[in-house]
Amino acid sequence: MRTRYIGQQLIEFPSVSSTNKVAAEQLALSKLQHGAVVLAHEQTAGRGQHGRSWSSAKDLDLTFSIALLPKRMKVAEQFVLVSLSALAVHEVVHALQPADVRIKWPNDLLVGRRKIAGILIKTEVIGQLVQSAIVGIGLNVNNNVLDVDMNATSLKLVTGISHDRHELLDRICEALERRLTRWEDDEEDGIAELSALLWSRGAWADLLLDGKLVKGRPLDVERSGKLIFELETGDVMALGTERVCFAGRQ
Ligand code: BTN
Repeated sequence: MRTRYIGQQLIEFPSVSSTNKVAAEQLALSKLQHGAVVLAHEQTAGRGQHGRSWSSAKDLDLTFSIALLPKRMKVAEQFVLVSLSALAVHEVVHALQPADVRIKWPNDLLVGRRKIAGILIKTEVIGQLVQSAIVGIGLNVNNNVLDVDMNATSLKLVTGISHDRHELLDRICEALERRLTRWEDDEEDGIAELSALLWSRGAWADLLLDGKLVKGRPLDVERSGKLIFELETGDVMALGTERVCFAGRQ
């Protein structure tokens, strides 16, 4: 891997329950260095956002978790983990499939209306600082069976060819490390880029606002991670994931 730290420690398993879970366990035992990657060729209990599960095909998809031990990331800045990891995955997918790859706030990757990747991040915080983070990434790579599911797709389905999962892993790690280094140097946090790539930006979408279905038009993402959107009434709001999300299955 052409990186300084992400992926330099690579722990590979044929099968685990969830790479996020294994990474958390290994981190608690101080067995992971900054940038360690836990990779599994099968997850039997993959985790998704909002307590949902994440399914992937054995030996066909990419499921891994990156452990980060940031030195001076403030809690208030932690959305940068979401933005930069989504942008890193976007960069790699977009290079192979340039058409219509977007980031569905906060950090799902969609090709058209179908989800190709998901990211699940857990942070440990002490005081004002992020002590550690586990960035779990699931990318549908060579999965063929997703075509029965209208909401999901894979790199193979959108490009028509199979892809090398280790090569993709390398590229994502490189992209994330480059973006994190840039952020450490000059605080470039990718917010403008993330906003520009926002799925449904400027278009009416179904949102759940405090559990109620409403029409909303995503406009931008704030540095704090809040989604700025317009309601049909013309009101503009900026809210976090605890109050608003896209309605639907993704
Ligand atoms: C989502 O879109 O709901 C997030 C999905 C995140 C899936 C990845 S796969 C690797 C890591 N291990 C898990 O159990 N989940 C994440």
